[in-house]
This record gives sequence, C-alpha cells and structure tokens, in this order.
Amino acid sequence: MKIRRLRANEGLAYRAVRLRALELEPEAYGQTLAEALADPEQLWHDLAASVADEGNPRALFVLDRGDGTLGGTLYGAVSQTAPHVGSLGAMWVDPDLRSAGWADELMDAACGWASRWGAPGVTLWLAPGNERAWRFYQRHGFQPTGNLAPAQVGEAMELYRDL
Ligand SMILES: CC(C)(COP(=O)(O)OP(=O)(O)OC[C@H]1O[C@@H](n2cnc3c(N)ncnc32)[C@H](O)[C@@H]1OP(=O)(O)O)[C@@H](O)C(=O)NCCC(=O)NCCS
Repeated sequence: MKIRRLRANEGLAYRAVRLRALELEPEAYGQTLAEALADPEQLWHDLAASVADEGNPRALFVLDRGDGTLGGTLYGAVSQTAPHVGSLGAMWVDPDLRSAGWADELMDAACGWASRWGAPGVTLWLAPGNERAWRFYQRHGFQPTGNLAPAQVGEAMELYRDL
C-alpha cells in the first residue's frame, strides 16, 4: 500500500471511495451521500483529470491499497490569490486502516505539496463532535481560526496550521 496522487483515469475509483466515506461517516462532511450519488459520471472524470494535472494548484492524495481500490483520500487546493493559503478537504481513511499512520502520510503529502505551491498554511473545516479527527488535527498543529459555518448538524469549525 502507498500514498500517491489520484490519476487522470481514476474518476470512478475516486467516486467509489468517496461514496464509501459518505456512507460510513455522513456527519463528517459538507456533502451528503445523496448529493454525491446524483453527480453525473462525467463530473468524476473531470475532477480526476483536474487534480491529476500538475499545472493546477489542486491535488487529491489517495491511499492505494494495491488491489485496484483506494482506502483513503485527502484533497488539497492552493488559492491563486495572495497570500495563497491552502485548503484541505475530503479527509478519510477506511476504518480497517486507521491508527496505522496512513492519515499522517496523507497529511504530510498534502502539506508538502501545498508548501511547494507557496502556501504559508492550510485551512480545513471540522464538523462538531468529531473528536477523533479533532485529536488528529491537533497533533498536526491545527488550531481554530474562530470562523464557524453551518454544518449538517450544528456548526463546523475552521482550523488552520502554518506550513
Ligand atoms: C480523521 C481520520 C482521517 C484520522 O485517521 P486515523 O488513522 O483515525 O488517525 P490517528 O489514529 O492517527 O489519530 C486519531 C487520534 O484520535 C484518537 N482517537 C481514536 N479513537 C478516538 C475516539 N473514539 N474518540 C476520540 N479520539 C479518538 C487517537 O488516539 C489519535 O489521537 P492521538 O494521536 O492523540 O493518540 C480518520 O479517523 C477518519 O477517516 N475518520 C472519519 C472521517 C473524518 O472524520 N474525516 C475528517 C473530516 S474533517
């Protein structure tokens, strides 16, 4: 198994892992399973092509299980306007692969990538009550910015860390 970037021809592999994340942890994300299921197939192909293009300040890091399926994801984007802060999303590791360092590797890969694009730091949104992810993000140096936004239930909290 290894962490790598999603390839341009892997739109449907990403769809499969994203649907699994939304099915197992619906409360963790801004998007619902119903919304993702309603997305046309072309959207997934276009997303994969976009994040695989190394000229775009967008990337999707995935955990390749080595059997043709993906067991984890982390999306990153770097703003094209100063101060070029990065944003992360779609953080997920399959339950059978948790507490094994894969989430750390995804985070290191995405932060290293954002830093190479010149990002001084990265933000992400954390849904209320997600204690496990909160512990994980704290260990990686994230702190609340004070910004809140409506979540599916309650309010999501914006976190930031320097790179
Ligand atoms: C968030 C996620 C990617 C982290 O990956 P992971 O492999 O579980 O992460 P780790 O095991 O390295 O770290 C989890 C931390 O939570 C702790 N933890 C484990 N179970 C916990 C629980 N039930 N409640 C609170 N903390 C818990 C661990 O001890 C560890 O803390 P530590 O580093 O201080 O010891 C993964 O749990 C996941 O995919 N969760 C579901 C989706 C999700 O919430 N995504 C984030 C969206 S913002």
